[in-house]
Amino acid sequence: MDNIRVLIPEEEVDKKIREMAAEISKKYEGKTLHLVCVLRGGVFFMCELAKRLTVPVTLDFMSVSSYGDGTESSGQIKIVKDLDDSIEGKDVLVVEDIIDSGRTLSKLMELLESRKPESLALCTLLDKPERRVVEVDVDYTGFQIPDLFVVGYGLDCAQQHRNYPYVGVVENE
Ligand code: IMP
Ligand code: MG
Repeated sequence: MDNIRVLIPEEEVDKKIREMAAEISKKYEGKTLHLVCVLRGGVFFMCELAKRLTVPVTLDFMSVSSYGDGTESSGQIKIVKDLDDSIEGKDVLVVEDIIDSGRTLSKLMELLESRKPESLALCTLLDKPERRVVEVDVDYTGFQIPDLFVVGYGLDCAQQHRNYPYVGVVENE
């Protein structure tokens, strides 16, 4: 069994998401916001955020994987599942769980930009700025965290631990 140390408790995550939702609702007032969830990790955050937005919301899902093995992403992305709907002319907000090297997200943002949305922004629950290799413009960040491998709130370690309502660190004894 993995031992999990709580890094960000549930109440703190909830409070932060409420604050982010208020800021985003204000920013998009009078518009419909099209949320693009990056599967699978982004799904918990997107649901919690979407529930608290006061502007009209539509949703879509995308799954990408970076080519290459190991823990380092390669910078080439493969679309595992594309969006169902066109984003042309829409106000799009990409919802991610975490930004690490930035490789996956920078490629994904480039791809989405080429599909001519009215606007395109990026929102992430967690950010590990120390790990950044490729620059990414992040519009809304929940928490900046140190260079630790975290799980919970959608984030996994070998597909485990996604369902925890907090962000934790795996500590193997
Ligand atoms: P990037 O291209 O290196 O920024 O990769 C980001 C992706 O790697 C995230 O969307 C996560 O799926 C995964 N990832 C990065 N850091 C962590 C972590 O600490 N825990 C779990 N998954 C992570
Ligand atoms: Mg992800």
